[in-house]
Parts: sequence; C-alpha cells; structure tokens
Amino acid sequence: MSEVNSVEKMELKVKDIIQKYGSDRGFVVPILQDVQKEFNYLPKEALNAVSSHLDVAISRIFEVATFYKAFSLTPRGRHQLSLCVGTACYVRGAPLIESNIERVLDLRPGKTSPDLEFSFDTVNCLGSCALGPILVVDGEYQGQMTVSKTNKVLKKLGKKVKTDEN
Ligand code: FES
Repeated sequence: MSEVNSVEKMELKVKDIIQKYGSDRGFVVPILQDVQKEFNYLPKEALNAVSSHLDVAISRIFEVATFYKAFSLTPRGRHQLSLCVGTACYVRGAPLIESNIERVLDLRPGKTSPDLEFSFDTVNCLGSCALGPILVVDGEYQGQMTVSKTNKVLKKLGKKVKTDEN
C-alpha cells in the first residue's frame, strides 16, 4: 500500500470516528481515545485529521493528546504490559518480574519492541495492592504475579521464553 493511500485510509477512519460523535468538538477526548484504539497510538496525520474535521486548532489537539498519560504519540506494541512498581507490589517481588520481562522481551520500561509486538511500562500504585504484584496485560489486571506466571503470560502472547526449566 502506498503511503498516500494509507494516509487517506487513516483520514477516512478518523472521519468515521468523528461522525460517530456527531462532529461535536466537545468530544475531543473520547474521539482521541477511539483513534488510539484504532491505530494503537495517535499518529500525527490522524491528529491533523481530527483538527481539520472538528475545526479545532492542531495546537489544542496536541495539548489534549499530551496532557493525558493514556495517550501515546509514538507507536505502541500490539500487546501492552504495565507492571505496578508501587510500594506494595515492589515489596512482593515486582523488581524480579520487571527484570525478567526486560530480559525476555529485551525491552526497557517505556519502550516498544521494533516489531511493534510489545510495549512495556512500569506504573505506580493501581489501587489493588492486596492482589499485588499486579501486571496489566492488554488492559486486563493479573494479580499475584510471579516470574513463572509472567513467563506463562508471555508465552501465551506468542513470545518464546527461555527459562531454567526449558
Ligand atoms: S502498589 Fe501495586 S497496586 Fe498498589
């Protein structure tokens, strides 16, 4: 697919999303949420399309897109892992899980794999301390994580995991 075609397709998709909200500029945040859901991040071209279809200055759209931590202006992986490193999760073993994920995915927190399969982040307390350590896998909270449970999750997501048990 040529780049022009893919930009056109992106603009059409954005237009569809905006129409779903009646082209109401009061819905910038949910519109951006839907755009991110569609593309896994907020591509510059999509933000331009939101700006022109809603007739809102691009600077304002960027302001919103950078204000909320949930939005990403850089490509994100198909699978997103967020490990809680708040105090309760930390003392229950989050650092071990973190270094294992780093090793298996060869990814530092805050990074996305070059094949865009995985993004990995660490986050602060998610409010479910009793279930810690918590790993959020594609939006789903998984509690009482251990290194071996994490490896099972990664295998399920298609990652080859080398462990001492292999
Ligand atoms: S510290 Fe992890 S959920 Fe609270």
